[in-house]
Amino acid sequence: MNKGTAIYPGSFDPPTNGHLDLIERGSKIFEELVVAILRNSEKSPMFSVAERLEMLKELTAPLKNVRLDTFDGLMVEYAKSIDAMCVLRGIRAISDYEYELQMALMNRKLEPTLETVFMMPADKYSYVSSRLVREVAQAGGPVRGLVPDVVEQKLREKLDPAYKLRDTNLIEVPRKTEKRRKKKA
Ligand code: PNS
Repeated sequence: MNKGTAIYPGSFDPPTNGHLDLIERGSKIFEELVVAILRNSEKSPMFSVAERLEMLKELTAPLKNVRLDTFDGLMVEYAKSIDAMCVLRGIRAISDYEYELQMALMNRKLEPTLETVFMMPADKYSYVSSRLVREVAQAGGPVRGLVPDVVEQKLREKLDPAYKLRDTNLIEVPRKTEKRRKKKA
């Protein structure tokens, strides 16, 4: 077994800055990091596996010890097939912990030799998730700074013309409150 290979499995629909942050951190501590996209996800994805692979390929190009792959079925079986000894997962907040703990323990039950290693992304990404990025983008909100530029561009292409991406990552607060305050006075 190659102790240097770790797998970073996920849906990456789409990849966020939080994912990229974790990939960069993981690539520094493992000899080889295999970013593995789950193919048979039950959810109806926004991006096809091929599109997600393409985005991740561009994002991880500078990281020479990072490899991309896709997998089906049990993650532990895939990890075994590539001789990975560790699974890398990110924990952003306490709310992630329960699900990640369950998954890590279930994976340990299925394959006791596979260790799960948790890392924390930079705190500025602690609230960023693919699901929220999709939700904000689908509603026409700005996602700059939450996803890499290439992903922002792909979101724009996918959702255009409904997606009117704003040039700022600040959401303007309506000035109604100000008016209401003046009326009351
Ligand atoms: O990015 P996500 O959606 O949180 O990733 C979840 C993922 C893909 C890591 C997880 O659902 C998974 O490993 N699925 C493969 C099927 C499997 O092995 N299930 C048992 C997990 S305990």
